[in-house]
Amino acid sequence: MKLRSSYVCQQCGYETASWYGKCPNCDTWNSLIETVKEVGKQQESKTARPEGTKPQKLSEVRHIEKNRLKSGLEEFDRVMGGGIVPGSVTLLAGDPGIGKSTLLLHVLAAAGGLYVSGEESAEQVKLRAKRLGVDGKNISILAETSVESIVSTLSTLSDLGNLVIVDSIQTLSSDDLDGMAGSVGQIRRSAEVLILAAKTHGIPIIIVGHVTKEGAIAGPKVLEHMVDTVLYLEGERFANARILRTLKNRFGAIEEVGIFDMSDSGLKEVSNPSALFLQDRVKNVPGSVVTVILEGTRPMLVEIQALAVPTQLAMPRRVGNGVDYNRLQLLVAILQKRLNLPLGGYDLFVNVSGGLKIAEPAADLAIALAILSSFKNKAIDPKTVVFGEVGLLGETRRIVSEERRIKEAKRLGFSAVCAPSNTPSLSKAAQLVA
Ligand code: TYD
Ligand code: MG
Repeated sequence: MKLRSSYVCQQCGYETASWYGKCPNCDTWNSLIETVKEVGKQQESKTARPEGTKPQKLSEVRHIEKNRLKSGLEEFDRVMGGGIVPGSVTLLAGDPGIGKSTLLLHVLAAAGGLYVSGEESAEQVKLRAKRLGVDGKNISILAETSVESIVSTLSTLSDLGNLVIVDSIQTLSSDDLDGMAGSVGQIRRSAEVLILAAKTHGIPIIIVGHVTKEGAIAGPKVLEHMVDTVLYLEGERFANARILRTLKNRFGAIEEVGIFDMSDSGLKEVSNPSALFLQDRVKNVPGSVVTVILEGTRPMLVEIQALAVPTQLAMPRRVGNGVDYNRLQLLVAILQKRLNLPLGGYDLFVNVSGGLKIAEPAADLAIALAILSSFKNKAIDPKTVVFGEVGLLGETRRIVSEERRIKEAKRLGFSAVCAPSNTPSLSKAAQLVA
């Protein structure tokens, strides 16, 4: 067997034959690690690809929609584009401790299959399953970190069930490589081997991947390119709401999101997210405004809270939780200029309920009104919902899916809407707290 060694950047996955102090691709220092490859073995696996190389009539290609596996966990299936495609490989990424293992155990309990755990022992997984109220009759567990043993187990089992979960890619290593588990080379090699196994057995595999502090999926970008679907589970660690997003899906749309509620007994599907995000709302208090955001294609009502207090500092504080900091600065400047609010003497705090993060400008008007409401110490009518982008001139600007947002607000019992269609400017909206 021929051995070849190359240097692989642990940041971006760039490969080179010689060592550099700085990665020529992404300019990171000291990130190239020598990785040994068995050339012979790789070529062998290439030729063994089960799809073969014969062209096929497009009309004869089997239609995936029919064969999708419904896990039975509705929020999950919807995010996957209507179920899991056989032989597909999905990466579930998210911060450590956010609930990836919990979610997948729920999925597996519904679908039935094999749980490969490289992080926890069989007993630990059992404990978690007990907590979730999962009896585990249709789940097999394998505690293993060698990717070769995993795939050889897969090929010896007569009944794999419907789905294989691998938790997590960072704990796997290939016997063919020298690098430590979690290194770029190991992650890539492990993924390669698993993808081949998924295609060979026609079984879907879901791989867990942790995310680094900077928010990137630990390991090379190439991992995202290799798999069919990339899901992202996010939320605030100490808030209950969890949002499952699709970053990439070769078999479906990417705008769907799934909403879950983390409880003591696991993740509960949330079919009515607006009710969840508004459940703790206190009405008729200054500084509280309800807005409608769009997550994927779903409108959701959330509460924006603001607090304006006289500052003791030369530079007043602007703190936003769940809102973009620059956007907040901009809205404060618009409020100062267009409504003549002396906010320079006030510290401002803005919060979004449920630990949500709002990325769209649709919440501008609600954020501005919440600040104004707290500043004036006057509550706005609790049955009014507010949304719309605010421009630099103090004008309100239309946003996508106004109709759908209004419908969702009506459904939850809101009777008045303050939106660009009936409120052309910030000063007009300010009359709500006049
Ligand atoms: P986990 O699924 O282990 O996260 P990950 O696999 O993404 O690292 O979830 C861990 C957290 O979730 C942990 O802090 C405890 C909490 N948790 C609950 O609140 N309820 C539960 O039923 C379970 C199983 C976990
Ligand atoms: Mg885990």
